[in-house]
Amino acid sequence: MTQWQHSKELWERSRQTLAGGVSSNVRLSAQPHPLFFERAAGAMIYDVDGNAYIDYMMSQGPMILGHSPTVILDAVNTAMRKGQLYAGQHELEIEVSEALVRLIPSAELCRFGLSGSEMVQAAMRLARAVTGRQKILRFEGHYHGWFDNVLLNVATPLDVAGSRERPKTTLASVGQAASVLEDFIVLPWNDLELVESLFAERGHEIAAIMCEPMMCNTGGIPPVAGYLEGLRRICDELGTIFYLDEIVTGFRLGLQGAQGRFGVTPDLATYAKAMAGGFANSALVGKRDYMERFAVDVNHSGTFNSNIISMAASAATLIELQRDDGAVYRHLETIGQMLIDGIRDIVQNLDLPVLVQGFPTAFHMSFTEKAAINDYRDYVLYCDKDRYGDFVLAMLKREIRLVGRGIWYISAAHTPEHVSQTLAAVEASLKEVWEQ
Ligand SMILES: Cc1ncc(COP(=O)(O)O)c(C=O)c1O
Repeated sequence: MTQWQHSKELWERSRQTLAGGVSSNVRLSAQPHPLFFERAAGAMIYDVDGNAYIDYMMSQGPMILGHSPTVILDAVNTAMRKGQLYAGQHELEIEVSEALVRLIPSAELCRFGLSGSEMVQAAMRLARAVTGRQKILRFEGHYHGWFDNVLLNVATPLDVAGSRERPKTTLASVGQAASVLEDFIVLPWNDLELVESLFAERGHEIAAIMCEPMMCNTGGIPPVAGYLEGLRRICDELGTIFYLDEIVTGFRLGLQGAQGRFGVTPDLATYAKAMAGGFANSALVGKRDYMERFAVDVNHSGTFNSNIISMAASAATLIELQRDDGAVYRHLETIGQMLIDGIRDIVQNLDLPVLVQGFPTAFHMSFTEKAAINDYRDYVLYCDKDRYGDFVLAMLKREIRLVGRGIWYISAAHTPEHVSQTLAAVEASLKEVWEQ
């Protein structure tokens, strides 16, 4: 018998009818195997074996208000009793778009979808329509969804990745259409000189620069000083679209997302996760002149777009996030900083090579001697992922649930009490994996 016996049995059963026993490949990497949960409330998530975890996965980012927030559930419950899907317009949809336009510096017009992946597609299509160019510049380690034309260079092994200065564009899955390789140019993140020399040579071919404004999917890597501003300037010089994929950072790095945090305004930006408190909703926002093309000659459609449930969830979430002049964000910053400081104290006392970087609302922990991780190759070469995996399992045994790749997501439901329990588990788990 293990601590996860019932989960193991359910996983074996699920594999009879679900491919791999899961519905998203990301979940296959869960330790010690995909776990089954039966309830989640506040900062806690409960599995079928009776383990009660303090959760820092927070559903990979969306649960910024904690699990099962009553105000959001009540808003959804009330709204959906009047219908779920009209295939027509309704007022909540205007309310949410008005809130986005008010809150997000770059938002002049919006379009809604369901998943992040699909609004990334809308952004790329619009960028190509506006510029009449085909190629898009993106960066190693950035994740923009699982579709054929974006699942590129996310976790390419370095022996096939090409040189740092000229990475090869690589597919990440068997079965992906190889024709998309032509459409993308890939560079390392955080190196402006390489972008400048690429644009000097081929800028006229490039429709858009797309990136996560902080690389949250591989490490938690903020832009180095002047980097995003530099990308903005290069785009302005050559009439290229600057597109920020804020699907993680939106409403997480602050009410204005990464745009507010870093003071850089893109032409287009995508949002999902934290914008709907755990329900499925996503948005593309951008400059009026560009976005108006959707009403003219650029197609974007979807049966479930702006359904009542998604819009009610987002409307309520955005109200909560704005309440008391940003009280949620003050709380997130305080709790996140307590964790960061606490982890740093522990590793200093134990004299261990552990790095914590990022921001209090989303920070990254890795096992490395380096003082900072600045790009994908740093992460691959210098971070001990196997040992971090052992740490995640050691934490899970102590009923703390972390994301395997090192990012920690804080919610409005985490308290100083949770922080104390977490830090005690961090200390014990670090000692265990270093066998001190
Ligand atoms: C930056 C970024 N873009 C796009 C996506 C894809 O979003 P979804 O999983 O909702 O399709 C993700 C998902 O994690 C993401 O982190």
